[in-house]
Amino acid sequence: MKHFYITTAIDYANGKPHMGHAYEKILADVVARYRRLCGQQVHFLTGLDEHGQKVQQTAEKEGIAPQQLCDRVADDFQDMCRLLHISHNDYVRTTEERHQVVVRDVLQKLFEKGDIYLAEYHGSYSPRSEQFLQEKDKVDGKWPEEFGEIIEISEKNYFFRLSKYRSWLVTYIEEHPDFIFPHFRTKQVLEFLKAEVNDLCISRPKERLAWGIPLPFDERYVTYVWFDALLNYVSAVGYGKEDFSLYWPVDFHVIGKDILAPAHAVYWPCMLRAMGIEMPKTLLVHGWWLVSGEKMSKSVGNIIQPLDYVRYYGADAFRYFVMRNTFCVKQL
Ligand code: ME8
Ligand code: MG
Repeated sequence: MKHFYITTAIDYANGKPHMGHAYEKILADVVARYRRLCGQQVHFLTGLDEHGQKVQQTAEKEGIAPQQLCDRVADDFQDMCRLLHISHNDYVRTTEERHQVVVRDVLQKLFEKGDIYLAEYHGSYSPRSEQFLQEKDKVDGKWPEEFGEIIEISEKNYFFRLSKYRSWLVTYIEEHPDFIFPHFRTKQVLEFLKAEVNDLCISRPKERLAWGIPLPFDERYVTYVWFDALLNYVSAVGYGKEDFSLYWPVDFHVIGKDILAPAHAVYWPCMLRAMGIEMPKTLLVHGWWLVSGEKMSKSVGNIIQPLDYVRYYGADAFRYFVMRNTFCVKQL
């Protein structure tokens, strides 16, 4: 029988867990436990996003190897899960062999299919957000604060043919009202898809970023951010193996609203379409914990550590506190 498969985002391994991470896991856990009570076989996956420039830089600053940093952060996040009574069945880390094998396999297939190609990029780049920028990223003619310092670069990289799937995706979202929950968040995605969509840069030269998964067809490059991270959802449940169909399609991807568009509602469905596998049933999107009106975040540095509260009030009180304002779990 197919499992009820539910995931959370995999957290960046560049800092300690905060309220937002705790909340997302509790939300997914409540759904998972509810489904188990309903008699379903549940597979609940969470994990850690270990590659990328920020992890490399943080490790350099501390004078340790990136893997050492990731191991420590994995312990912190797993301790948090234990203290919060999270009932996950698996914890995936993107440096694991089982994950890297799948990433390379998918890259190779999409390269052979012609959906990944080499091209010269010239333009503005934000080292802070590790992102090439476009004119449309400007607000009132200026780059928003969150991008930090902007530099001009020119570089050859590999791109995924995202633009090819744009009109298919718009139709898919319009025809599947349950794809994004709560439904009102669909609007932001369709808005993003209205404008022309550029192909997605998926690589970085190794000189600039060593801490990543080497491309199988060009070892001078590593893959970068989303093409690595998103694939955790399939690598952890045996993509390419017989058992995969016991889990896929996933029932819920639990994510925060910051990673809905474009990552989970645009890149991910297009990647899956290119791979020829089924769409996730529902993206379950939650809002943010704020501090004085601003998103709690590692880069802003306004984080509240959940574990002091958990130790003081106990896991159940804390779980109730973060869940009481959330949408009705029965709908899930
Ligand atoms: O985005 N309130 O990792 P992350 C509520 N590695 N939720 C919050 C939050 C807040 N203040 N801050 C963060 C990443 N979150 C990527 C994901 S998935 C293939 C890769 C949520 O550590 C955020 O929305 O920045 C996301 O769902 C999760 O915590 C991990 O955030
Ligand atoms: Mg984040």
